[in-house]
Amino acid sequence: MALQLGDTAPNFTAATTDGEIDLYDWKGDSWAILFSHPKDFTPVCTTELGAVARLKPEWDKRNVKVVGLSVDELTNHAAWSADIEETQGSAVNFPIIADTDRKVSDLYDLIHPNASDTLTVRSVFVIGPDNKVKLIITYPASTGRNFDEILRVVDSLQLTAKHKVATPVNWKHGEDVIIAGAVSDEDAKLQYPGGWNAVKPYLRLVPAPTD
Ligand code: BEZ
Repeated sequence: MALQLGDTAPNFTAATTDGEIDLYDWKGDSWAILFSHPKDFTPVCTTELGAVARLKPEWDKRNVKVVGLSVDELTNHAAWSADIEETQGSAVNFPIIADTDRKVSDLYDLIHPNASDTLTVRSVFVIGPDNKVKLIITYPASTGRNFDEILRVVDSLQLTAKHKVATPVNWKHGEDVIIAGAVSDEDAKLQYPGGWNAVKPYLRLVPAPTD
């Protein structure tokens, strides 16, 4: 069965542009993002890997390690990385898995035969410090992903892992959050002595905790 939210992210060892990695050893207790792309030397993928490289300060700020993947060979990844640096203005600064035997693709269900028998789909997995899968998104080959959205979700995941809150539609870091339904008004009064905006008894908004 395909991986689902809350499942343990399967561990693996794989050849990458930064040498062989063991997923669990490599990520340690950081957050991690594993993202697949269909093919090296293709236009959409080129823009995506450049964008992910440019976001390095944002990943670092959030203690997120990023690893890419396709079924192309290491030599192709290396040659293509030079093109990415030349055209996207940023050198690739994260490992890219060369999953030529599809070992990782099979573990993470990255080949969808009705889309393509041979190419990996554009999936993103956010993996927590506890090695559990927190987010899975899959895009078609013809649509480049929005990595600002992935960052936004990481912000929400990190906040909601620490505090009993949820984040509303289109929420961005710093905006008001929702007090979790499991928190009674009595407990909420202790946590939020300044009160909250009760739009409905089940929709209680407060400024996002800052600690
Ligand atoms: C691309 O990255 O441009 C791409 C890759 C595979 C299929 C279609 C587009």
